[in-house]
Amino acid sequence: MARKIFIAGNWKMNTTLESGAALVAGLKETLAGIDTVEFGAFVPACYLGATAANAAGSNFQVGAQNMYFEPKGAFTAEISGDMIKDCGATMVLLGHSERRHIFGETDELINTKVQKALADGLQVILAIGELLEERKAGETNAVNERQLRKGLAGVTAEQMATITIAYEPVWAIGTGEVATPDQAQEAHAYVRSILADMFGAEVADATRIQYGGSMNPGNVENLLAQPDVDGGLIGGASLKVEDFTALITAGVAEAAK
Ligand code: 13P
Repeated sequence: MARKIFIAGNWKMNTTLESGAALVAGLKETLAGIDTVEFGAFVPACYLGATAANAAGSNFQVGAQNMYFEPKGAFTAEISGDMIKDCGATMVLLGHSERRHIFGETDELINTKVQKALADGLQVILAIGELLEERKAGETNAVNERQLRKGLAGVTAEQMATITIAYEPVWAIGTGEVATPDQAQEAHAYVRSILADMFGAEVADATRIQYGGSMNPGNVENLLAQPDVDGGLIGGASLKVEDFTALITAGVAEAAK
């Protein structure tokens, strides 16, 4: 089964109302008419509505960087899946390493969010990945397996159609140290084997696995050429129209192969 390449930006806590609008305006122009690759960005919550409005009428998909699992109530500073949809956004990123390691989110908490986001009809990108010390200790596969099994607990094979996995080795995030294409492929193949064990070969074959961690116009081609790398989740290089356009153009070239 051919998986459609999916390139997503993660703007993190970086854009302003003005710079985000300029990014979308620029990308709408450079990416007009591209439909062989899916693309979009996870934007700061306060700009979800404005970004979705700016992206309207284009293929640029807009998502939130996090959400809470309760529908409403006394949860100061949190946002719900319904709020995300109300803003016109369609996706949510869950389990990012910064949420796990800076804000202490556990696999169990992430799983409740995954389940609620799916119930709310959002497209979910579940991020997983090992720390440098875990890689050095030979625990890469074990960490990814744990984060996958716990993060996707209770998810049905049918629901997997709206889930993308993002493999982001933490040591490669924002460091300029990218995983080699072989390292990425090895981890992605392992992730797919766990998905096959959990949901069956057909679901595993259809699920997209993005690579994230210092992906840029110089390394994207070799990463996307790997058989189990189905796109990217990009921080720094998603903040410049030229760089993000180059990543998607590389995806278009790979899709045409
Ligand atoms: P960088 O592309 O800046 O390394 O960030 C990757 C990332 O964390 C995307 O979610």
